[in-house]
Amino acid sequence: MSTETSTPRDEQKQERSAAAHNKVMLTRRQFLLYSGSTAVAASTISISLFPGSAQAAQARVVSYPRKFIARLSELKDNVPVDFNYPDELANSSAMIVKMGGVQAGGGIGPKRDVVAFNYICTHQGGPLQGSYVAEGPHRILGQCPLHLSTYDLRRHGIVVSGQAYESLPQVLLELDGDDIYAVGMMGLIFGRHKNLLES
Ligand code: FES
Repeated sequence: MSTETSTPRDEQKQERSAAAHNKVMLTRRQFLLYSGSTAVAASTISISLFPGSAQAAQARVVSYPRKFIARLSELKDNVPVDFNYPDELANSSAMIVKMGGVQAGGGIGPKRDVVAFNYICTHQGGPLQGSYVAEGPHRILGQCPLHLSTYDLRRHGIVVSGQAYESLPQVLLELDGDDIYAVGMMGLIFGRHKNLLES
């Protein structure tokens, strides 16, 4: 049976490897904000894949617009406020709602209960406006008027029932003092091949 001992040389190698790994990693937030093939604002960065070598990759990073949506202090419990994001084009209608203290994935605010979602059903594009339901601990968007899909707003808009099989796209929010900004999206808007059409 062999006993493993690590030498200073091994430790140095491990450190170098970890540093190299970190260099090519995007944080989850960066990934969410920048994922996609095109953008409203795009820039090019160099990512060193193999530090110490001449090899480097050019990565085109893209970003969603940062758009003011609402003031936290003005949101009323379980009363959705409509807006458009990431643009004013087809299927960009969305809603923000403060879910009365019910914490949600991606929620902001002191109780993590403020979330925003696109309004277009991911199945065949049914309109979900006016379908918000707050019942006990449940916070649902739906039923979709076309084929009855419902989405759980506490859990990143996953499908609860009906014909849809993809989660409702969630609008990523940031809180700056009392001001709420939309800064990105998770999930593809129905009817689009990319979320950011103006690019
Ligand atoms: S379009 Fe919404 S369930 Fe079919």
